[in-house]
Amino acid sequence: MHDALKNEISTYEKRTPKSAASHTRALKRIPLGVASNYRAYDPYPLFVKEAQGSKIRDIDGNEYVDHNLCFGTLMAGHSHPEVVKAVEAQLHHGTAYGMPHDMEWELAEEICGRYPVEMVRFGSSGTEATMHACRIARAAAGRDKIIKFEGSYHGLHDTALISVKPKPEEYGDADAPNSVPGGLGVPQASVANVVIASFNNLKSVERRFKGNPGQIAAVILEPILMNVGLCMPQPGFLEGLRKLCTENGALLIFDEVKTGAKLGWGGASEAYNVKPDITCLAKSIGGGFPLAAFGTSRKVMDLISDHKVFHGGTYNTNPISMAAGLATFRSVLTRENYAHVAKLSKKLAEGYRKTIAKVGLKAYVASAGANGALMLYPKEIQNYRDWTLVDIDLWRQYWFGMVNRGVLAQPYWWDEQWTISVQHTEADIDKHLAAFEDVAPGLAKAQQERGPVTVAAGH
Ligand SMILES: Cc1ncc(COP(=O)(O)O)c(C=O)c1O
Repeated sequence: MHDALKNEISTYEKRTPKSAASHTRALKRIPLGVASNYRAYDPYPLFVKEAQGSKIRDIDGNEYVDHNLCFGTLMAGHSHPEVVKAVEAQLHHGTAYGMPHDMEWELAEEICGRYPVEMVRFGSSGTEATMHACRIARAAAGRDKIIKFEGSYHGLHDTALISVKPKPEEYGDADAPNSVPGGLGVPQASVANVVIASFNNLKSVERRFKGNPGQIAAVILEPILMNVGLCMPQPGFLEGLRKLCTENGALLIFDEVKTGAKLGWGGASEAYNVKPDITCLAKSIGGGFPLAAFGTSRKVMDLISDHKVFHGGTYNTNPISMAAGLATFRSVLTRENYAHVAKLSKKLAEGYRKTIAKVGLKAYVASAGANGALMLYPKEIQNYRDWTLVDIDLWRQYWFGMVNRGVLAQPYWWDEQWTISVQHTEADIDKHLAAFEDVAPGLAKAQQERGPVTVAAGH
């Protein structure tokens, strides 16, 4: 570990002794001391006391401008007043029905008005949305195999947990990557039914279709790959996928769990003018409450209506999440708020770029809608393998440096990105940029001393 990183971590430890103690205590009863593996990092994660608007406070009393926002779930910001009002009102009228109610139709109308879908079913998490999307796609196509992109993340079910973060020795050919289970417990049958292609590489997708004739049910992807920082689709890539799916009788699934609410009014399908067959939504559509949906054509949904494909869930459309979702669509994800976030996003990205140029850091900023990331690479990355060539300790110096200056620049982990909420202000962005200006010269210096990374880091 280089000295500059050591210093930042030592400052972090001095500022956050209560988090250290809570983590030590939690380790006795909870694996890794956290409820989701993504929340664990060295030396220990921050423990939260409370959050409001664009700010979050840890149990030591440090306040941060929050761009983690629950891994991008809070485009609404914390406890958005309109969401809180709707939820508070609903709390007095039942929290779970397990029976139909009219908010279901209302929210379905909101979703069908924004995304290219005719019917929707609801759930509570992104994992559920992509799991049901894959199942109904398999049923619609009458085939078992799904094409997924190396390095993409679609949740925790067996179809999704393949080649999420493969190690270099597991890669295989870039045009035909190996299917690598993301840990023990993923059945071999799932591995065999998930065929891997490379993002931004249509040739690899074509090759997969050719190698599995009449067997591919669907291609699933995030239109912007956000499990590697932020990797933009190159011109023609999404259109090419649409064409390949149509030609091969496969369905195109857009996992818009992140992009659906945060890229803009109509998500990625509107922004790129490419129509998927199935759209998956979660995270920011719920305003901070567990809410997800998958939508498609009436024809595909008839598989559920005709009792050929099963879909259910005790917590589906619980009235708390539905009230939150309605308030989010109607009062948070408005055109006015998208304009506000776009303005802040531009200011943040341009501020970073100015500082990067000033200090001579070899890096760039990727930004799309409410999301963005400092990408510590000399040139734009195109896929997962490009992304693995990151100097992890340099990134950690950035993240801890920002934390020590009161800014959670993004969730911990170099595969994540920042989110700007509708409750962030110009002052928040000024504070973020001031912290980066303070941290950046040290990054440039360390980068120069450490030299370029040439070997892919195993994650
Ligand atoms: C693109 C994408 N799809 C699916 C998921 C899974 O969502 P959840 O964590 O709500 O199950 C995530 C979570 O980060 C995601 O980023």
